[in-house]
Amino acid sequence: GMGWWGMAVLGYLLGSLPFGLWLVRATRGVDIRRYGSGNIGTTNVLRVAGPRVAALVLLADAAKGWLPVVLARAAGLGEPAAVLAGVAAMAGHSWSIWLGGKGGKGVATGLGVLLGLDPRVALAAFGVWIGVVALSRYSSLGSISAAASVPLWMILWHAPAAHLVFGVAAALVVLVRHRANIRRLLRGEELPITLKIDPRR
Ligand code: G3P
Repeated sequence: GMGWWGMAVLGYLLGSLPFGLWLVRATRGVDIRRYGSGNIGTTNVLRVAGPRVAALVLLADAAKGWLPVVLARAAGLGEPAAVLAGVAAMAGHSWSIWLGGKGGKGVATGLGVLLGLDPRVALAAFGVWIGVVALSRYSSLGSISAAASVPLWMILWHAPAAHLVFGVAAALVVLVRHRANIRRLLRGEELPITLKIDPRR
């Protein structure tokens, strides 16, 4: 059957599927990469295509992180393999074969991985995201804060070592993928989550 590396390849291929790009093209007929932050993730889809399409993208991008974790477990491969598959899904989303090595920022896919690994940690991190975004209106700041909080929740709840490896790897992926956001935040030029962009004009 599928071993560890098969699961990693499956996770990477699933993660690579650019649902934000496809769903905005299908529903609005435009390339999301030309608008707003240029990102293919839920936040930018919300700006360009509204809450219904954004909800679909969030669900699809989270599912491609959740599924490889569940499949690795179902294959009886254990938590380290589930973590490897989850990290691979985040890497696929962030450095996609469909997008010539470009991609998203790994937040929704990481949330999906966490829902599979440990729903308590997923909910706690989501709570951090909600709180920071409610105060700042910056999705990026919420995502960076939530990702940084993940290893802390895991330590608090005595997660297995393999989960902690995911928590640290995921926080690093999210941080690296938010470099441009961090520059904009420091310059006071970040795009708020509430910005509405009409792609037809
Ligand atoms: O998940 C991405 C979010 O943290 C930032 O999105 O479009 O503002 O770069 P964006």
